[in-house]
Amino acid sequence: MAVRTQPVHSGALMNDFLTHNTTALRNALAAAEELLEHHFRTAAQPCGSATAAELTRAVREVDLDNPTGDLPSALAELSPLWLDHAVWYHHPYYASHLNCPIAASAVAGETIATSLNTAVESWDQAGAAAVMELHLLDWVCAHIGWEGPGVPKKNNDETTPPVRGVFTSGGTQSNLQALYIAREKALRVLSTTGLSHQEKMGRLRFLTSEDTHYSVARAVRLLGLGDEALLTIPAPPTAPGTMCPQALSETLQRAEKEELTVAAVVATAGTTDRGAIDPLLPIGNVCAEHATHLHVDAAYGGALLVSPTARHRLRGIELADSVTVDFHKGFYQPVACSAVVFRNPGDLGHVTHHADYLNPQDSYLTPQGSARVNLADYSLQTTRRFDALKLWVTLRTHGSRPIGEAFDRCCELAANAAEQLREFPNLRLVASPELSTLLFAPADPQAGTQKTVESVREQLMAQGHALVATTVVETNPCFKLTILDPALTPAELRGVLAAVSDRLDRQRPFPAAT
Ligand SMILES: Cc1ncc(COP(=O)(O)O)c(C=O)c1O
Repeated sequence: MAVRTQPVHSGALMNDFLTHNTTALRNALAAAEELLEHHFRTAAQPCGSATAAELTRAVREVDLDNPTGDLPSALAELSPLWLDHAVWYHHPYYASHLNCPIAASAVAGETIATSLNTAVESWDQAGAAAVMELHLLDWVCAHIGWEGPGVPKKNNDETTPPVRGVFTSGGTQSNLQALYIAREKALRVLSTTGLSHQEKMGRLRFLTSEDTHYSVARAVRLLGLGDEALLTIPAPPTAPGTMCPQALSETLQRAEKEELTVAAVVATAGTTDRGAIDPLLPIGNVCAEHATHLHVDAAYGGALLVSPTARHRLRGIELADSVTVDFHKGFYQPVACSAVVFRNPGDLGHVTHHADYLNPQDSYLTPQGSARVNLADYSLQTTRRFDALKLWVTLRTHGSRPIGEAFDRCCELAANAAEQLREFPNLRLVASPELSTLLFAPADPQAGTQKTVESVREQLMAQGHALVATTVVETNPCFKLTILDPALTPAELRGVLAAVSDRLDRQRPFPAAT
């Protein structure tokens, strides 16, 4: 029987309510495109200047029980409510967080996945989509280097696709899943000790650097462990923001003496503020010596996997047991698009939970049944979007080279911005850029207070002039530019630096607290 593409209901509303009606789908996409085209062409500021009170009032006035009655009107309403104030990540004066402009090819993939509303969790909902996701994850594993000597071979039996990882909603979820699996592995090792569950949990430790992403600490808590379970390894004096392999080795030895079990070492390939990359090779060797799970959070720096010039900076990532990669950062993919992958596919078995409604025993029924894969068996989510499709379409359109080149360019631009900073006497460089971030602060220590720095950022944002971030690095309040738009020019970066410098100069000193 053919798929219905014509209206089936008599009511006027139902005629264009669902996408069975291909005219409704076409009109919806065309209306959305028209609105977007207008805003992309006319967005003159990185964000609007309305106050939170004004935005809240306008939104709260919308009566959701009183519809506009047609899509063009509903979309037109979005302009004053949101799009006129939206943050435009492709604007030259947006340099705030790890948000990227996105590949147009990815939007095509995203639109198709959304229009089909594919949910990838079980074979009977996804089929080929699941196999495409797995193929893409294998591609990530190959770029990590998990096909080389000493690495378990991919299962070449074509009837059972090997599952090497899973797409997730972001680095936060990817890290949580990796740490969960590491915890389960450690508890299994402790299962022969005769200890109670509580005692075993009390022995677990995770080791990480001082600059690890906050999601790691939160994951440890979510896994039922106290704050004492997260130990930070200091940085060597020569490489601030990274993990010292010697200190790691000593901590692992001490942990063994104290009968503690290190569930995982969490290294970072691209810290959020500095972009610092932990020395993965020596860390990997230390972890191998101690048979400890190494997780690499490459949410940010993972884009170097496809860099034509800087792939070597991830040397040693192949020694990891699990890796987080965010495609919605340096791979120019729409939010959400991230993955966590595992060197040993067996590790994913720790999240498998049999649900009768999702796991029919197909293999009894059809000779091909055993080739079917239910991705819910490997994910913390059940209903899950086919987020892999957008990356798939980008890779099939362009290959990975332009992604790597774009990320390289952003790193060059950050270095260029560091050079240009010298021309602003009221600003000083806090740390040389490691990837595509730039950390700088007021040159005058009197002006270097958190209040001043945040006030400058706030004023630039309030005017809708430029968006920069602020953070604290080794107790220094600083400004941060995060550059992910390869189309930026040095002159535009200079404009952002000039805006910060100018605002800082016009800052009135805060009255002393009484
Ligand atoms: C190093 C690092 N890890 C993890 C995350 C969390 O990723 P997400 O925001 O996709 O959850 C970030 C976010 O900036 C990050 O920089």
